[in-house]
Amino acid sequence: MINMYDDLSGQSRQRIKDKIELLREEQTSRAVQEIIEFDKTPVELKAAMDGFIIGQERGKKIISTAIAFHYKRLGGALKKALAESEGDIDLALQNTKSPRANILMIGPSGCGKTYTSQTASRLAGVAFVHEDMTRFSEVGYVGQDAADILLDLLLAAGGNPRVAQMGIVYLDEIDKIATEMVAYKDVSGRGVQKGLLHMVDGTENTVHIGRERISLSTKHVLFIAGGAFENLETLVKKRLARQGYQGNWKDHLLTDDLVAFGMERQLMGRFPVRVVYDQLTTQDLKDIMTRSADSVLLAYSNDLQAWAIDLEFTDDALTEVARRAEQEGTGARGLISVIHRVLLEDMYRLPGSYTGRFVVDGNYVKERLA
Ligand SMILES: Nc1ncnc2c1ncn2[C@@H]1O[C@H](COP(=O)(O)OP(=O)(O)OP(=O)(O)O)[C@@H](O)[C@H]1O
Ligand SMILES: [Mg+2]
Repeated sequence: MINMYDDLSGQSRQRIKDKIELLREEQTSRAVQEIIEFDKTPVELKAAMDGFIIGQERGKKIISTAIAFHYKRLGGALKKALAESEGDIDLALQNTKSPRANILMIGPSGCGKTYTSQTASRLAGVAFVHEDMTRFSEVGYVGQDAADILLDLLLAAGGNPRVAQMGIVYLDEIDKIATEMVAYKDVSGRGVQKGLLHMVDGTENTVHIGRERISLSTKHVLFIAGGAFENLETLVKKRLARQGYQGNWKDHLLTDDLVAFGMERQLMGRFPVRVVYDQLTTQDLKDIMTRSADSVLLAYSNDLQAWAIDLEFTDDALTEVARRAEQEGTGARGLISVIHRVLLEDMYRLPGSYTGRFVVDGNYVKERLA
């Protein structure tokens, strides 16, 4: 009796396992198919990004080009390998060689580095994982970090290692693991950077989940590293002055400068595509409020619409909010807190007690923030 019970549960367990395996297979073929069919041109990808990310024209061009080429190339190589390996996806992934060009994004806080990577991954339709490197420098640990990142990527890919292998990993605050130079850094940064090197290099890695061991190659993973790199500008400008060069420092950034900042040369060599994002201007901040699909102001305005309240910000009001946000020095992040402070009282009071147009002008903003 007891045996039969065990047997039954054993059988159903097996059935569930098979079912999961089947789902995973389907998900993989779909993901592979999507990559093979990837057909966004850089111009199309950028146009799609424009609906979300305001400004940063040059940066968006470089990133959309890098991402479109990466997936087009990967798709082409996969298609060929798949034909050669008679449809064996694992074999095809293994045999596919496609040179990668990882991206390094530099720019002040809140100017859209993380947001860009996230949005571009979504538009490309691939798994995306965001890793904060400060976490690793604080622990000061070496080695385990890379495994943690791969585990997160695997989770972002719904546990499917093949989907994970074609995803994007964003290494945020990469400048915080620099060695030398600035006081808040410590030597542990070097170890963390070395640990990353292996992962970025695209070797086979093993991820442990409980007793299960999953092998995960990072050969096709696109890495994007981002950081504010404070003082880098001064460093580059000094070098340029020494060498008697003129012109925009952003066009003359060298690996040497990043090394002088405290980054490992080997690691930086693996991030050949360099993007320098600009500080957002007042106009950018205004445009973010009115044009970005993820705008907080548009979100609030939609919310209020549900109570039959039509929220309107005059141009003066937008300018005032943008100026206040600028003063916070946190880029577009400042917009959220400023808008919130301006509207807090009204969002509490208006629903249910008022309908129709509700116009916020510059003076009203000033009053609310006084
Ligand atoms: N250029 C932009 N266009 C539209 N929205 C933006 C832009 N830049 C920032 N934002 C908004 O501000 C938020 C914060 O930006 P993000 O996280 O990308 O900053 P970051 O550059 O990564 O800064 P940090 O160096 O502090 O990590 C985003 O989630 C987004 O809503
Ligand atoms: Mg960020």
